[in-house]
Amino acid sequence: MCGIVGYVGRRQAGPVLLNCLGKLEYRGYDSCGIAVSSGDLVVYKDAIRVKALAETLPRSIEGKAGIGHTRWATHGEPSQVNAHPHCDCTGRIAVVHNGVISNFQKLREQLSGEGHHFVSETDTEVIPHLIEKYYAGDLAKAVELALGEVEGSYAIAVLMSGESRLVVARKDSPLIIGIGDRENFIASDVPAILDYTSQVLYLEDGDIGVVTPGGVEVSQHGKVVRRERHTISWTVEDAQKGGYEHFMLKEIHEQPKVIRDTIGGYVSAAEPPAHLATMGDISLEEILILACGTSYHAALIGKYLMEELFKVAVRAELASEFSYSGRASSVSRAIVITQSGETADALKAIRKLKGEGCQVIVITNVVGSTASRLADQTVYTRAGPEISVAATKSFIAQLMALYWLALPYAKIDIRRLDGLVMELRQLPGKVQRVLDSEATISEYARQLARCEDVFFIGRGINFPVALEGALKLKEISYIHAEGYAAGELKHGPFALLGRETPVVAIVAQDNTYEAMLTSIKEVKARHSPVLALAEEGDEVVGEVADSVITLPRVDALFSPVLNAVALQLLAYYTARERGCPIDFPRNLAKSVTVE
Ligand code: F6R
Repeated sequence: MCGIVGYVGRRQAGPVLLNCLGKLEYRGYDSCGIAVSSGDLVVYKDAIRVKALAETLPRSIEGKAGIGHTRWATHGEPSQVNAHPHCDCTGRIAVVHNGVISNFQKLREQLSGEGHHFVSETDTEVIPHLIEKYYAGDLAKAVELALGEVEGSYAIAVLMSGESRLVVARKDSPLIIGIGDRENFIASDVPAILDYTSQVLYLEDGDIGVVTPGGVEVSQHGKVVRRERHTISWTVEDAQKGGYEHFMLKEIHEQPKVIRDTIGGYVSAAEPPAHLATMGDISLEEILILACGTSYHAALIGKYLMEELFKVAVRAELASEFSYSGRASSVSRAIVITQSGETADALKAIRKLKGEGCQVIVITNVVGSTASRLADQTVYTRAGPEISVAATKSFIAQLMALYWLALPYAKIDIRRLDGLVMELRQLPGKVQRVLDSEATISEYARQLARCEDVFFIGRGINFPVALEGALKLKEISYIHAEGYAAGELKHGPFALLGRETPVVAIVAQDNTYEAMLTSIKEVKARHSPVLALAEEGDEVVGEVADSVITLPRVDALFSPVLNAVALQLLAYYTARERGCPIDFPRNLAKSVTVE
């Protein structure tokens, strides 16, 4: 998705902007550009990678204020002319924008009628023209008046020729200001500015900020407001590959630490096992969990977990569908899971829930994200920055947060609860053992890499893991993969099975075990090769499946964690074998900020 950066200070802006843009590449983009104020405005942009843009720039662009953008096309194809920054008619005002201006057609016609000339197909281009229209010597005022005409969502940064300040604004799209020493930064995302500062301000919806080298002034409806300074705990190293070939592999390997960090807040080694921090009084009468993509798979696992522990019905729904339901959510409290905290569909769902008077608990990885601000309560996962587009460690951290939410309220025998807490503490070590079997998993991946279609099957709490295994494989290796509840395979997909279509079967030691063995036998009868994931010591699975990835023994409620990690490695090595661009899969973006 689009990324914004900006700089004003004591250094030359060009190299700073390019460096910051490079750090946003992981969000996914198709074009990029920068504008620097060096007396006149100079704009360089194209439908190319940041590195290529850097190579086309003149050796030195003088100017200590500038803005930059990575674009993920929504209005108009990826092209030089559609790339940001966009300028007004005079070429004196440049704007970068994230979000969608919903009334841009009307504004464009109106402005064209007033003599403004448009060159791109983008919605963004109306903004510099509106600012031009309202400019009467005060850029911030002109931005405020221009935004008064705009409907939709935006995070914008505006630069004017000859000025050593930036004007920024946000509504429903994230924007942060990084505070430095006689220099300040703006960005849509923390990793962009970590090389320079860890001090940030988060803008609120409706804020307009004036950023100069010496300070930041934020106002709402013309009144100056104070925005608190936060210190980011993520380090530069967190956002680097650290010797791994891909971010995804690094992030997979970070998972034992992520589990330790995320559960560290509530399972204390010094306390008796069942002593858990809780979220206070959570009504367990009705529970609704909403999310998209991989986070939705975490939500589904949460559903199985809570239904098992609470013995009440739990609904897990797609946030992207939730808004279209004719009925009210009819819950008093809901959980929304979004690692980025900026997914448009998740935010829309939160707003709908809040509109119905529902209390919302958000599980997110990003401090200060829009979801966390909208939430009544936020559970932060401690995964650190996740750069690879494919979610791995943020998913595992979400599961940890769900265990946190669920365990203190479990209607189970205290000894069972103690046992689960004990298991939770042992999880990092067990995940490490899965990671240690990387070489074996990569051998199976080599075989999978030759296939065109793969099915993943699981039952119960591991059915969502089958969905997640398939999603991981398809998004990074481009192999067609489908996740199915094992019992559903015979209701249609059997027609697709055969020698060329392997099936990955997740076998857990719970009440689904016998049925999974039956499913494997049914699949084998259709000649599909079966790769099973099973616990060590299970001799039976090896007799029915063609090959087995053996995983440490664990309580079945935690088995999704180990199975998911094994499937992440399987997807990673399959994609690597096929030579895919693992960290930045085609057509995908890290945080999906449009509907
Ligand atoms: C897949 C993936 C996506 C996200 C989805 C929701 O690997 O990362 O499916 O899970 O776009 O994103 P968040 O959790 O940021 O709301």
